[in-house]
Amino acid sequence: MKLVALALAALPLAVLAAPTYDHEWKDDKVDKHYEDDHKWDDKHADKWEDKHHDDKHDGEEKWYKDSFPFHFTSTIVGYASPDTIVNNSQVAVPGLEDGWGKFAFGLNSEENVICYNISVWLKGNYSSPAVTATHIHQAVAGRAGPPRIAFPNPRVLNGESIDEFSWRRSVGCVWGPFTTGVVVNGTDTGAGFTVADLEADPTGFFADTHTVQFPAGAIRGQLEWK
Ligand SMILES: *[C@@H]1O[C@H](CO)[C@@H](O)[C@H](O)[C@H]1NC(C)=O
Ligand SMILES: *[C@@H]1O[C@H](CO)[C@@H](O)[C@H](O)[C@H]1NC(C)=O
Ligand SMILES: *[C@@H]1O[C@H](CO)[C@@H](O)[C@H](O)[C@H]1NC(C)=O
Ligand SMILES: *[C@@H]1O[C@H](CO)[C@@H](O)[C@H](O)[C@H]1NC(C)=O
Repeated sequence: MKLVALALAALPLAVLAAPTYDHEWKDDKVDKHYEDDHKWDDKHADKWEDKHHDDKHDGEEKWYKDSFPFHFTSTIVGYASPDTIVNNSQVAVPGLEDGWGKFAFGLNSEENVICYNISVWLKGNYSSPAVTATHIHQAVAGRAGPPRIAFPNPRVLNGESIDEFSWRRSVGCVWGPFTTGVVVNGTDTGAGFTVADLEADPTGFFADTHTVQFPAGAIRGQLEWK
């Protein structure tokens, strides 16, 4: 397991080695968007920091210092494509041709927290019976399985139409107990699930996102250690 310190006010721009040329090419495109976004992020982080340094209230600055950086007990990633989709009858079905996604996660299994950095190249509106259409499901490659964690759907970055291909992104953290909104045998499929379960064997899980046209999943990526 890797220990990763992440300072929110000074996010490291790690360029990750991707398994194929295709992934690298698309990582570059993703990184370009993030460079633009970080100009905004840094500006606002500085303002926030100034505000907190001006603040003379006891404890305020201590809170600020104690809160960052936080740490991950491990980091995992899934490279999602349209050619790995399996529907709930365990039949391989096509996803969204030319769709692609990078689902990066930072886990803190001690505190049952999972942070996500999801970038997808998609078109079409989301659709899922779950609370959102972007999930980690429990199943090995080639199999379907229940969603365990639902994440906010990646949003279009620059106001493009949802009917056209564009980059979408979702960044943040969620923590247990988890609720997916999908009930099987009278129990929510997130109930009782922990980040430690995911950390125990990420390859037994995949990340995906579902659209109106591709209810079984537009793109899917099996998770692996980063
Ligand atoms: C999210 O991933 C992108 C693309 O890999 C990267 O450039 C960016 O720094 C990451 N953002 C965070 C908050 O880690
Ligand atoms: C899965 O796909 C097969 C083949 O298209 C289809 O017959 C079956 O009804 C699908 N199952 C679900 C749950 O959608
Ligand atoms: C997209 O789907 C969401 C529900 O998943 C709905 O609220 C929204 O109105 C839809 N947007 C469009 C443009 O169809
Ligand atoms: C639901 O119950 C059925 C029958 O008892 C069982 O085969 C199945 O594995 C259960 N599904 C889940 C997700 O627990």
